[in-house]
Amino acid sequence: MKAFMHDEFKQLGTDYNSVAEVSVYDQRMRKFRDIDAENHKTAALAKLSSDSRVLEIGAGTGAFTRFAAANCRDVKAVDISNVMLEYAAAQADKEGLSNISFERSGFLTFQYKPGYFDAVISSLALHHLSDLWKSVALRRICDSLRPGGRLVLIDVVFDLSGGEPETYFGKLLDYAPGSRDEFARHIAEELSTCNWIMTGLLERAGFRILSDECINDFLHFYACEKQS
Ligand SMILES: C[S@@+](CC[C@H](N)C(=O)[O-])C[C@H]1O[C@@H](n2cnc3c(N)ncnc32)[C@H](O)[C@@H]1O
Repeated sequence: MKAFMHDEFKQLGTDYNSVAEVSVYDQRMRKFRDIDAENHKTAALAKLSSDSRVLEIGAGTGAFTRFAAANCRDVKAVDISNVMLEYAAAQADKEGLSNISFERSGFLTFQYKPGYFDAVISSLALHHLSDLWKSVALRRICDSLRPGGRLVLIDVVFDLSGGEPETYFGKLLDYAPGSRDEFARHIAEELSTCNWIMTGLLERAGFRILSDECINDFLHFYACEKQS
């Protein structure tokens, strides 16, 4: 690896290489997320069909990957955590899904043929990279998509547009998903960016933003199309 390259395999924040964390991840998420509804919404935003070739980056326990595999031609799932990948592969096996390829890699290292995928999905993972490396990641994603292909990006992105951070983040903590302390740690330590930066990064990478839905002032669902 070149000396200037960011090492994305160093975990930031929650340790997704911990078996204990991964085994309770789905239960923890289900307390404040309707995963089934999210999967349907993501598939619609990505315009998935039975013919689609799909890539999920930061696939975690594979809830969306498995949903996509049951409905699409083939799916590639990548994550930097071996523990997450093993868990997701075991679940896929139980469900008899044989059209998923798992790869231990991330935004900056996933292998692809340019223009191969119809859709790329990433949920709650891009905030692990700084804005500089987000821009590199989004360019790689754009390159991996066919013209007109879609990216659905779901992440914690802030709408802090001036004013006091205390007021804005204080309000967000009232919606705290899971636990207030965990969300406060996310705000303080993880690399979630501002919406005006994220939209600029997406457009600079070669995407047209088709829609940007924001839930509770921090959870953005961007549906984007690769410009031809
Ligand atoms: C909060 S979990 C999200 C999992 C799943 N996508 C979801 O929506 O529930 C974040 C995942 O991103 C992975 N991750 C962290 N940095 C990454 C990177 N640079 N490239 C790919 N995945 C990464 C973690 O290992 C973890 O599985």
